[in-house]
Amino acid sequence: MRALLFAANWKMNVGPAEARRYLATFLTAYPPQPNRQVWFFPPAVSLEAVATAIGNRTDLRAGVQDVYWEPKGAFTGATSSPLAAEAGAKAALIGHSERRHVFGETDEQTGKKLKAVVAAGLHPILCVGETLAQRDAGETLTVVRRQLHAGLGDRVEVLVTVAYEPVWAIGTGRNATPRDAAEVHRAIRAWLKERQAKETRVLYGGSVNVKNAVELLAEQELDGVLVGGASLDPQVWIELVRTAVT
Ligand code: PGA
Repeated sequence: MRALLFAANWKMNVGPAEARRYLATFLTAYPPQPNRQVWFFPPAVSLEAVATAIGNRTDLRAGVQDVYWEPKGAFTGATSSPLAAEAGAKAALIGHSERRHVFGETDEQTGKKLKAVVAAGLHPILCVGETLAQRDAGETLTVVRRQLHAGLGDRVEVLVTVAYEPVWAIGTGRNATPRDAAEVHRAIRAWLKERQAKETRVLYGGSVNVKNAVELLAEQELDGVLVGGASLDPQVWIELVRTAVT
């Protein structure tokens, strides 16, 4: 059975009290499954609640949605990698499309954040993906390779997971076909291999739900999914994570 990672990106939802209730439901209904990891990315204020609830379940992990690259100091409103680690984070999303397109994060900033995350011992999930205009102009692979290079440089010495999330598929109800996703996943894997990466895990994200997860995950190029909306309700998320895949 191939290993799969299910990552829940709660975005700016689920405070500490709701997170505790959510995890209580999840832990009771979802015992560890072979070769299946489930990672939760709550807002920073709920990290400790999630990490504490997870306890020593090794199939589950808490992660932070974004960090600033400096470890500490006068950066009002920001969270650093060491602070997130202290709150229980073991992983971090880097360069999510909402960071890039809502908050104006640049490729250069994404690269700095990735380095800071690795320095703090967190596992980075580097998010990449093209806009609809870029896809229509046939620039998908150019954009994705540029984002990979900005995040990882010429030689990939760190363990990293890449999440391919086409911007036009995030929160829109419109997901890429398994074939579209697989084509980009193959290009990402080839890019990573050319740069001696030890790990080539590639997730797909963008309007993944209980219905389309089966079809998407049947595509062998997908090592898992990064899910926003469909991860907010514990019952829906449990159903999605249980998706039968061979
Ligand atoms: P969505 O979000 O599943 O709500 O489209 C995915 C993401 O932004 O990671």
